Amino acid sequence: MTTTESLETHFERTIEADQRIEPRDWVPEKYRATLIRQIAQHAHSEIIGMQPEGNWITRAPSLRRKAILLAKVQDEAGHGLYLYSATETLGADRGDLTERLISGKQKYSSIFNYPTLTFADVGVIGWLVDGAAICNQVPLCRCSYGPYARAMIRICKEESFHQRQGYELLMTMMRGTAAQREMVQEATNRWWWPSLMMFGPPDGDSPNTAQSMAWKIKRHTNDELRQRFVDMTVPQAEALGVTLPDPDLRWNAERGSYDFGEIDWSEFKEVLRGNGPCNAQRVAHRKRAHDEGAWVREAAAAHARKHREAA
Ligand SMILES: [Fe+2]
Ligand SMILES: [Fe+2]
Repeated sequence: MTTTESLETHFERTIEADQRIEPRDWVPEKYRATLIRQIAQHAHSEIIGMQPEGNWITRAPSLRRKAILLAKVQDEAGHGLYLYSATETLGADRGDLTERLISGKQKYSSIFNYPTLTFADVGVIGWLVDGAAICNQVPLCRCSYGPYARAMIRICKEESFHQRQGYELLMTMMRGTAAQREMVQEATNRWWWPSLMMFGPPDGDSPNTAQSMAWKIKRHTNDELRQRFVDMTVPQAEALGVTLPDPDLRWNAERGSYDFGEIDWSEFKEVLRGNGPCNAQRVAHRKRAHDEGAWVREAAAAHARKHREAA
């Protein structure tokens, strides 16, 4: 019989040695709660994130674009299901998490509370939003919790397909008419700042970061990841021929990085508080889909029960 103390030592040694914690291992309650909250929020973001782009599936300009977009949105559903499964290995209940999302008790990424006004938004979301997601998620492939880390490996492969499809769509539009180039620039103007907000509040305002880094759930701070994203994206914008809407954006040779302007954190907080342009619509849509799916869940449960009884 192992004592709690030796279980704790085992946990700490595993983290220290950069090995993975698995569902069978004892973990501190706070580690479990932190992971459930983070993975659930991530899962919710994948599922809610289907809506802004799903908005364009019926109006995609060609069969090829429709097939690509459909596949991309389906991938996001898959990411959500994968991640909900990861929370279940920590003892969470998927139905309960969905309930928390619908009732506003749990959050999802604030980026999905912005509307998709033109088809160029599909390209810009792939380029910037999936691009930011990749920056955030690649380090999570080395997260200390095994099921989450392994889920992220597959998810990141698909996210990089998403980013490339977005960039390829924008490249095509930039080779098109002046009106199409204008659409790309206008969509870039709207999505740039919200994309930078995806990395979360500045380090000085992010109280949970230190503990998450000590537990090796998180490997870099919000500001480090944001900087990495800016440095990666500026040359892509140049190659594309669009201007990023920030007059303060310039190369800093001393730092070997791009300086950029002040983010409007009051906007971020407002969206987080539920006052973004589409918060109510996104949650209402998710609730409707959940309610309309009740009979499917009941039928699946009845089917499983029948099989158990027959066995
Ligand atoms: Fe995703
Ligand atoms: Fe994606």
